[in-house]
Amino acid sequence: MSVAKKEYKRVTVKSLVDMKKNGEKISMLTAYDYTMAKIVDGAGTDVILVGDSASNVMAGHETTLPITLDQMIYHASSVIRAIERALVVVDIPFGSYQSDPKEALRSAIRIMKESGGHAVKMEGGSEIKESIKRILNAGIPVMGHLGLTPQSIYKFGTYTVRAKEEEEADKLKSDALMLERIGCFAIVLEKIPAKLAQEVAESVSIPVIGIGAGAGVDGQVLVTHDMLGMTHEFNPRFLRRYMNLYEDMTEAFTQYGKDVKSGDFPSDKEQY
Ligand code: KIV
Repeated sequence: MSVAKKEYKRVTVKSLVDMKKNGEKISMLTAYDYTMAKIVDGAGTDVILVGDSASNVMAGHETTLPITLDQMIYHASSVIRAIERALVVVDIPFGSYQSDPKEALRSAIRIMKESGGHAVKMEGGSEIKESIKRILNAGIPVMGHLGLTPQSIYKFGTYTVRAKEEEEADKLKSDALMLERIGCFAIVLEKIPAKLAQEVAESVSIPVIGIGAGAGVDGQVLVTHDMLGMTHEFNPRFLRRYMNLYEDMTEAFTQYGKDVKSGDFPSDKEQY
């Protein structure tokens, strides 16, 4: 169904809830630096996620676990300087909210104060309920994240689809209801069956944004470097590549190297 788009000069957590009410799908992409954020924001993307996927994409780590709170704040503050319209959500990284609610609040406050981000995202359900409540009580909007939660990769053992079994699906459904009840403004569902994701989206009034969670949710998120085809070794079924920048950039760099070595660059016009 195509829906007339209301203009949002600035996207807020309230705009996202309105979008869900009006049946307008929410677009969300990652960004970790100023230049990319400027393009993503200028294209009208509703939400920019400063994801802890920066650990993989920007720093080359195998998992999201090594990235630190200071590094997330650095990435988020670069993004914030670029944006005019999008809501900027910042992941609280592994190790800075799991031990207790006070630590979680301190980390969330640092993100909001030092980066200027608009909201935080946290992975997990009932296990981190008290931490989420503490952060919400301080007036900081929280986006939940259920399903495949990459910060727990060593518990899962693999990056395969989550919640295929009834027990895990039931927990996910009750976690989603709990996140809505305590006041989260949205939930990311990662890599779960489409039918389950749709059921969750229909059971809550807050927006549910999917990655590998099918079309029956209220919005979609992708890692920008993946959808641009800058990364080329990661090929999950849910990923649609809009460009093949890995090849285009390789071609450009190769040509540049040739031009420098042959003396073709710089030409007469390209010097003073
Ligand atoms: O860190 C990230 O990029 C994420 C998305 C995959 C949702 O959490």
